[in-house]
Amino acid sequence: MTTYSVGYFVGSLATASINRKLARALVRLAPEQLVMTEITFGDLPLYSYDYDADFPPPAKRLKQAIDAVDAVLFVTPEYNRSIPGGLKNAIDWASRPWGKNSFTRKPSAVIGTSPGKIGTAVAQTHLRSIMAFCNSPLMNSIEAYIQFERDLINDDDEVTNASTSEFLRGFMVELQAFIVRVYTALPRNLGAESTRE
Ligand code: FNR
Repeated sequence: MTTYSVGYFVGSLATASINRKLARALVRLAPEQLVMTEITFGDLPLYSYDYDADFPPPAKRLKQAIDAVDAVLFVTPEYNRSIPGGLKNAIDWASRPWGKNSFTRKPSAVIGTSPGKIGTAVAQTHLRSIMAFCNSPLMNSIEAYIQFERDLINDDDEVTNASTSEFLRGFMVELQAFIVRVYTALPRNLGAESTRE
């Protein structure tokens, strides 16, 4: 069985984050071929290219964490019709210094939840645009805009609504298939030398 490691970003830094709840539920629902680990970024300073000559330890750790996984999954809220500033800051760090963009040829996928009816759709559109610029092969479908309702996810990280649970399981199965397709076209050992831009 070929396994793939997926690093997931939770776009929210809030302790009661509903997107963290969703991320934990997705870990439970993921096929066993996907090995899920969180990539954290709350300790990063604000990015400036003044740091490019010598990244501080939290930024080095972030880049190493992305280098260590086969794919990334963003589970993000929508803040003011975009992604939260903390997540954008992390992406900016990871994309630099020039020539060492950690996202180049790294498959990615996007999902998010919000109490609002459009369930982070606008933020996801922004994030797709950002990741396209970062040269990440992006899973186009399944799109997943999850309207969060109280008790949708219980304290055991289980999705209580059966159809939403099946939908999210399908999302993770599709993510696995997408990662397999990307690495079938560009095997991991061939990609390594050419993943720096
Ligand atoms: C929000 N919220 C929000 N929701 C939405 O659907 N679209 C939006 O543009 C915004 N904007 C926004 C800005 C800011 C600064 C905050 C704090 C919140 C509401 C948001 O969906 C809700 O607070 C979620 O709980 C955020 O997800 P996390 O942080 O709990 O994972």
